[in-house]
Amino acid sequence: MEKKFKLAPSILSADFSDLQSALNICKKGGADWVHIDVMDNQFVPNLTVGPLVVKALRNKTEKFLDVHMMVIQPEKLVEPFARAGADSITFHIEAAEDPASIIDLIKSCGCKAGLSIKPQTPLSRIYPFLSDIDIILLMTVEPGFGGQGYIEGSNDRIRQVRNYLNENCLTNVLIEVDGGVKLHNASEVINSGANILVAGSEVFKSEDPVQTIREFYKLAD
Ligand code: DX5
Ligand code: ZN
Repeated sequence: MEKKFKLAPSILSADFSDLQSALNICKKGGADWVHIDVMDNQFVPNLTVGPLVVKALRNKTEKFLDVHMMVIQPEKLVEPFARAGADSITFHIEAAEDPASIIDLIKSCGCKAGLSIKPQTPLSRIYPFLSDIDIILLMTVEPGFGGQGYIEGSNDRIRQVRNYLNENCLTNVLIEVDGGVKLHNASEVINSGANILVAGSEVFKSEDPVQTIREFYKLAD
């Protein structure tokens, strides 16, 4: 029996000329969170949205806005995204000189704090910070683009983090998995220990995105 999880559709694969429709899809499908990918063309070779867009979305939805910052100097953007209405702010361990102070800053702004890690970075890099964060976001593709394939071996990494959290009484930390999550592999991802699934192209590039969101939740029934 699989346990319940949250789905966070990533608007990276939605129609950026009509984000209201993306929010409507999330609402109609019953998605828990809305995942917003922030890219600065420096940490990753792509450029997306900033606090203005988060603020615009905040005005149109009550859903949990999950901001995933793929940026250098993440500390500079915490307050702007918090003011814009982010519910969680996640930054990359590879981009942070002083992760502990950024975690403190995110929490002092009243947001959930997330720490993300790229597929090739040793998991041991994040372990010192797990007792202070709310979310660990495991990248299961190289960050930067939607529509890539799930990296083989990622389920092992999820299991390793799950075991570490269990062994250290840190089960209040949520494991979020981002990249290449599809209907066909979602059950394995959940069974490996994920609490939150990010799905971009699988939802927004499908013929019926509302139905696709509902199909994800049927996996947990
Ligand atoms: C990639 C982003 C992901 C992306 C996932 O850097 O962090 O959130 O939107 O897209 P899919 O689900 O298509 O792999
Ligand atoms: Zn993301």
